[in-house]
Order: sequence, then C-alpha cells, then structure tokens
Amino acid sequence: MIKKVRKAVFPVGGLGTRFLPATKAMPKEMLPIVDRPLIQYAVDEAREAGIEEFIFVTGRGKVIIEDHFDRSYELESVLNERGKTDVLEELQNGLPKTGSVAYIRQQEPQGLGHAVWCAKRYIGNEPFAVILADDLILSEKPCLAQMMETREQMDGGNILAAMEVPHAHTSRYGIISPGYDDGKKVEVKALVEKPDPSKAPSNLAVIGRYILEPTVFNILENQARGAGNEIQLTDAMSDMLKSTSFYGLRFDGTRFDCGDKIGFLHANLAFALNRSDLSHEMEDIIRKMAADL
Ligand code: G1P
Repeated sequence: MIKKVRKAVFPVGGLGTRFLPATKAMPKEMLPIVDRPLIQYAVDEAREAGIEEFIFVTGRGKVIIEDHFDRSYELESVLNERGKTDVLEELQNGLPKTGSVAYIRQQEPQGLGHAVWCAKRYIGNEPFAVILADDLILSEKPCLAQMMETREQMDGGNILAAMEVPHAHTSRYGIISPGYDDGKKVEVKALVEKPDPSKAPSNLAVIGRYILEPTVFNILENQARGAGNEIQLTDAMSDMLKSTSFYGLRFDGTRFDCGDKIGFLHANLAFALNRSDLSHEMEDIIRKMAADL
C-alpha cells in the first residue's frame, strides 16, 4: 500500500513584482479570477484531490490570506439578516476544516526550494503536494487529482505536472529531460531550472503542481543557491533523481500563468466563459469587442 498524500504546501511568500502596483499592498495570491482569489482555486483543487491539511508558507504582508480562510462573523451575520444564504453557504464551504490549516513565515524570500523546506516540520515523514497558486488550471478533473491517480497507478513516487511550452520560453521554467514517454506520462531523466533555450534539453516544462517524497527535505537542507541566486526546488529534485524516480504528467486542462498580466487576463476570460451564470453576457461582450478590432 502506498502512503496517501494528505498534506499540501502552498508557497505564498513571493513578492509578486510582475504585478505591481496591484501587488504593492495586496498579495498576488489574492488577485481575483472572476470572483475568487487565486489561492481559493488552489485550496479547492487540493480539497477535491483529497488533501486534508493545508500548509501556507507566507511572508510579510500576507496576513489577509489568513483572514480569507477564517470565519468572518460580522459578514456572516449581515448576509444572514439579508437572506443571502447562497453567498453565505459559498463562503462557509470555501473554508478548510478548523484545525487543518497552518501558516508558517518564510522570513526571507530565498526561493521556492527554501519555501518548501520551511514546511518540513508540518509535513514530517510522508509524501505531500505542492501547489503554486499562480499556475491556474482549468480542467474537468482537477490537475492534482489527475496526478494522484497517476501516482496510484505508478505505486507511489514523485510526480510533476508537465506541459510543452514554446522553446523560446524555457528560461521561465524548470525543464525536463525526458526518458520513456507514453504521450501522457514521461519519465524524468534530468531537470534543469530556467535554462537558456540554447541549452534546454527539451521544451517540456514543470508546471506548479508537485507530489514529492519527504526525502526532498534532507536535500533542501543543504541545497546551494541556483538560478536567480535562489534555493531552487528543481535543483533538489534533480539530486533526488540519483536515488528515486520522477514522472511528469501531461495533465488534461488549460494552464494560465496568472503571475503574468496577459495570462491573468486570459484566465479571467476563460473562467468567466466557463461559468453558466456569466458565459452568455461574456460571449456577447467578446463578440462585440472582436467585431470592433
Ligand atoms: C517555479 C519553478 C519552476 C516551474 C514554475 C512553474 O518558477 O521554479 O521550475 O517551472 O514555477 O510555474 P517561478 O515561476 O516561481 O519562477
């Protein structure tokens, strides 16, 4: 029996410099796609994949994320008085169970690898997931649930979400050097963080969903700084490859890079078009705008 993945880490300490001035006082994870902040989509995806414990690695200026996942009695009583039971129910359903959320401060932004390492004590000795909220995925089955299924078929191990990107963009991603490939599952032979297109082993990129064995913490503990002078998760996973296997999963769904302005705007359109309460009006607006171009 493989160990169940019960815990997920949400690194939310990043500064969001690509989205200034919006992110000067507001965490980028609170940017809304239609009417929900990015971090809510990430938590919902984790819950739908069976995650029971949620560990946020935060930083300065991020406390409103904690408020978002807390009860708001004043708001709830106003909604109640006004008979807005739908909204009230939605708010209450969006909350993870009491006692299932932990917040830990990453005192200095030293990179994704360091952020994940900060969650070490909360994870202990069990496999866990990592979700990067600015990689938003629109899909029928949540991406993490697809990865969980693959992990069960593989009898455990480390799984990364993967996607082909334009070759010219390899320097934005962790890139996989692929081995055996059945078109969906890809054996990871090597990993390199943000390689120049001229040095990239492929254009198969790691997208922000990971299922990892806890041995990654021992490696992160002594991980030297890598690309961007940061402690990189990709470098630690690359070390793990010496002793354990990794698979990339080409997930079903569309991924939006919501840390980028165009990706964020695209996501808003796509998610609005996917909502039965908004799609008709949105379609009309888009058609009229397109006709005027
Ligand atoms: C991070 C990872 C990178 C991965 C990317 C996916 O980079 O370091 O390996 O491909 O997320 O979005 P970041 O976007 O935080 O620079």
